[in-house]
Amino acid sequence: MENMKILIVYATNSGGTQLAAQIVQETLVKHSLTAELKEVRDTSADEFAGYDLVILSSPSWDDEGAEGQPHPDWRPFMEKAKGKDMSGKKFAVIGLGDSSYTYFCGAVKILEDFIKSLKGELLTESLKIDGFYLDQQKSSLQLTDWTDNLASRLQGAS
Ligand SMILES: Cc1cc2nc3c(=O)[nH]c(=O)nc-3n(C[C@H](O)[C@H](O)[C@H](O)COP(=O)(O)O)c2cc1C
Repeated sequence: MENMKILIVYATNSGGTQLAAQIVQETLVKHSLTAELKEVRDTSADEFAGYDLVILSSPSWDDEGAEGQPHPDWRPFMEKAKGKDMSGKKFAVIGLGDSSYTYFCGAVKILEDFIKSLKGELLTESLKIDGFYLDQQKSSLQLTDWTDNLASRLQGAS
């Protein structure tokens, strides 16, 4: 149970997803877990092998004319990872969005499908944050609650 390593991979436009990822990192550290943060543009899926859990995190945005897409940096990352077999690898997903858009946190479903395509395992229900900056205190609480639950699942599962 000791020395479990978690990687949080994120992309952001206006900084919200980075802040959210930092809150998750700090919360995991409180559970005596090792958590590293990386931007998706600096990450290759081959690095996932070194971690017990990988958390993918993205805002939802317009990309190439479609609404509710992950941050554009996810596209080349997912292309490169296509066809890899990560059977048994544990994952979780966090999405930031705004429920006034048609596809609220649309990126979450896309990232979940990506994990399925790798044969990865979702450790918990994905977290969707509505309007991160509108009520940062509420958003932080949602993040710490979700992460507390995630940590106990991870530590209980080992
Ligand atoms: C042009 C634009 C398009 C957006 N499209 C969506 C969307 O389709 N679905 C959604 O849930 N949120 C959408 N949002 C809201 C962002 O995902 C939300 O503000 C998020 O917190 C931004 O995260 P970031 O600070 O990490 O970039 C959009 C925001 C902008 C400015």
